[in-house]
Amino acid sequence: MSLNQHRAPLFEAVRQYAGTVRAAMHIPGHKLGRAAPAEWGEFMGPGALSIDLTEAPGLDDLHAPEGVIAEAQALAAEAFGSESSFFLVGGTTAGLHALILTACRPGDLVAVPRHAHRSVLGAMILSGARPTWVRAEFHEELDIAMGPDPQSLENALVGAKAAVLVHPTYYGIACRMSEAIAQIHRHGLPALVDEAHGSHFAFHPALPPSALSLCADGVVQSIHKTGGSLTQSSICHLGRQSRLNEQRLRAMLRLVQSTSPSYLLMSSLDVARRELALHGRENWDRAIELARCTRQKLAALRGISLVESSDPTKVLINVTRRGLTGFQASEALWSHGVAVESAGLGYVLAVLTPGDSAETADTLVNAVAALPDGPGAPARPPEPPWPETVLPPRDAYLGAQESVPLAQSVGRIAAELVAPYPPGIPVVAPGERLTVDVVAYLRHAVAAGHHLQGPADPQLTSIQVVKE
Ligand SMILES: Cc1ncc(COP(=O)(O)O)c(C=O)c1O
Repeated sequence: MSLNQHRAPLFEAVRQYAGTVRAAMHIPGHKLGRAAPAEWGEFMGPGALSIDLTEAPGLDDLHAPEGVIAEAQALAAEAFGSESSFFLVGGTTAGLHALILTACRPGDLVAVPRHAHRSVLGAMILSGARPTWVRAEFHEELDIAMGPDPQSLENALVGAKAAVLVHPTYYGIACRMSEAIAQIHRHGLPALVDEAHGSHFAFHPALPPSALSLCADGVVQSIHKTGGSLTQSSICHLGRQSRLNEQRLRAMLRLVQSTSPSYLLMSSLDVARRELALHGRENWDRAIELARCTRQKLAALRGISLVESSDPTKVLINVTRRGLTGFQASEALWSHGVAVESAGLGYVLAVLTPGDSAETADTLVNAVAALPDGPGAPARPPEPPWPETVLPPRDAYLGAQESVPLAQSVGRIAAELVAPYPPGIPVVAPGERLTVDVVAYLRHAVAAGHHLQGPADPQLTSIQVVKE
């Protein structure tokens, strides 16, 4: 197959199909937008709805690609530097599920950073693999994980079948990736990298190296986060000389993905790849320069400091010396029409991309300058306790369970995840023992107003535990 990065074969094919078909006697029932509610049709425009298709003549099949999807995926493989690439319509979540299902059989151990996204825990539940948790190193002032502790990673690799890395973190921090991948390879294991926030890395030399360039075995990227495609569209890549079996990965992708993959999402991946391949360097030049100027202006503001990040476009703003929590700062910024990516106890996170301009960046700077002084930010909470794992996550999550008041849960085995967000690191995961310390920490998190990810009862007056 001869590859030409100027082409977007999947987008070209759907557009041509929409212009050619005379009687679309197939689903989706809105028939290229003709039966869509008028307000929706008008808002979306005729183009978007006309390519909201499933398999149709000439449009190939995501689950057995031989035509335009195969071609688009081959172009993505070349552009991102993989052996082969697979389009995802269920986000990076689906890709991480598929990678771990590929690398692990039920009962296998896998080294997982405790600060990994909850989709990795979901993969443990689906696959029956058991996590050996790797401790994170934390930023000295803010409650954010920087990367895996090397000794903890080394310990977790013994007896494992694979290891997961997060590159970069949600905050754009990319710590010692090359060393961590080499460490995993010394144990003969596949390195599975959650690169949800790094789909732009391969296209600019001022950004951290991409996991594929560091010989990762399997990588998943949310192209929708920074790569310019539509929300929910991601790519799963196999590295060159990957230790993973490609046929098994294909089978797992068939298992976890929809049988009606959206052509709107997939063609957005195709055009995002073309844009990155042809103009990624210049687009990200602009974004990086804009981020550099914005950082300079922000750092000059009273009571504001910035966290150094390997990806300068992730602007992590420390507001503690304004006496504010990040939650308060985020609300104040929103009153100026500025919506940040997230807020934590002491910070807000702003993400800049080629979609930003001097105007949006200055709106951010002016709103941060106008932040009021607060009564004093709360102290950083202590590191969460480290519960004992008693059961595999799968058994605890899928087995018989009951709800008990949190106050009466000490000694029981958790059947659900509880992760105060941000930072989203589990305080307890399914299969772990609830201790006095764990319950006290959870109560503290609820009292501090953290949003809790995972529990059936969002107020956590009760918690799901394994039925005894
Ligand atoms: C680090 C990380 N990994 C994985 C995911 C899941 O990605 P997606 O939303 O594309 O499913 C996220 C989502 O925010 C994330 O932050």
